[in-house]
Amino acid sequence: MQLSQNHPLEAGLTHDSRLITAYGGTRPDVSPVWFMRQAGRSLPEYRKLRVGNAMLDACLTPELASEITLQPVRRHGVDAGIFFSDIVVPLKQVGVEVEIVPGKGPVLGKAVRTAADVDELIALDPAVLDETLAPVIEAVRLTVAELGRTPLIGFAGAPFTLAAYLVEGGPSKDHIHARTLMHAEPEAWARLMEWVAEVTGRFLRAQVLAGASAAQLFDSWAGALSLDDYVRYVAPASARALEHVRDLSYSIPPAEPGAHAVTRTVPIVHFGVGTGELLKAMHDIGADVVGVDYRVPLDEASRRLGGVVPVQGNIDPALLAAPWPVLEAHVRDVLERGASAPSHVVNLGHGVPPETDPAVLTRLVEFVHAQ
Ligand code: CP3
Repeated sequence: MQLSQNHPLEAGLTHDSRLITAYGGTRPDVSPVWFMRQAGRSLPEYRKLRVGNAMLDACLTPELASEITLQPVRRHGVDAGIFFSDIVVPLKQVGVEVEIVPGKGPVLGKAVRTAADVDELIALDPAVLDETLAPVIEAVRLTVAELGRTPLIGFAGAPFTLAAYLVEGGPSKDHIHARTLMHAEPEAWARLMEWVAEVTGRFLRAQVLAGASAAQLFDSWAGALSLDDYVRYVAPASARALEHVRDLSYSIPPAEPGAHAVTRTVPIVHFGVGTGELLKAMHDIGADVVGVDYRVPLDEASRRLGGVVPVQGNIDPALLAAPWPVLEAHVRDVLERGASAPSHVVNLGHGVPPETDPAVLTRLVEFVHAQ
């Protein structure tokens, strides 16, 4: 399906941005850079806005979500906004009891441990999202109107990461109940994953239709899985989630008279933590770009991806608090290794730690742009 004429990609506002160019596999003159969790507790202006607003309430208040998304773009001059929301927002909007506990993460009203629990959960109809995602759609619209030529990245949690929260009932270390369920009750697991793919896929599609120029699927906890389990029990659902955005395309007008217009699909990034063994499988589900955490150097990641896939990453967040010369040497190394991929979007290997000095992030953006 072609995006509407006033979508930033279709209107020609963002298709030639550094970010979208690099996601398309072409190296722009200057490396694009943005940070996972760039919106959040590292910014005093964020902490001020969040006073008295619970995390999920902030996500569902369009003016707040939009303002929080814009804060790091204004302050750091990053090459993209990442929509301020959370991977559990579509679960809440479909009717799951969930809250985000500060310092901990998402906590569910009830853990989904048995086949009967799965059937009770999946009785919730994903179609209600068409109406209940209205505040998310409004927040994206407000944000892209302000961003102008800076692209907005929409995102969603991958089915496994969301299922891990649902089955554990909250954050966990090795997601043991989720991994047990997938083997002990493979049919119930498949029903659960199919339902989650539908819910999270609709959340992602809503953001792209409302104006996001790229989409990132976060499978933060997939690193807990063996490659075999990932391919068999998880990858099909992740692929299905991405089908919700895979058909969305935009056209680029001919560069000169007589040339042809080109049709492209909205770029999709797939990121996981500790997923060095899964990189190729994570690309194979239908991603265009693979996000790499700090554990695997980008030249090695690119080699594992056959040398043909754009990569995103992978500055170690721990080094943000190190003396500047140490961080600078590390970033130079990341850039050098990233040069072995067709294109490279600079990012961290995971989110910005809340205690990060925001001035370091601004300096990092200036440094990357100056190379
Ligand atoms: O700048 C951005 O990246 C914006 C949006 C964003 C948030 N969560 C906002 C948020 C994104 C992309 C996410 C995704 C998310 N949420 C993931 C995948 C990425 C990852 O970090 O692995 C996961 C696993 C979650 C679940 C979740 N939500 C956790 C683990 C936490 C942290 C809890 C804490 O207090 O440490 C949250 C809350 C959350 N989501 C915050 C933010 C800014 C912190 C809320 C606060 O300020 O109190």
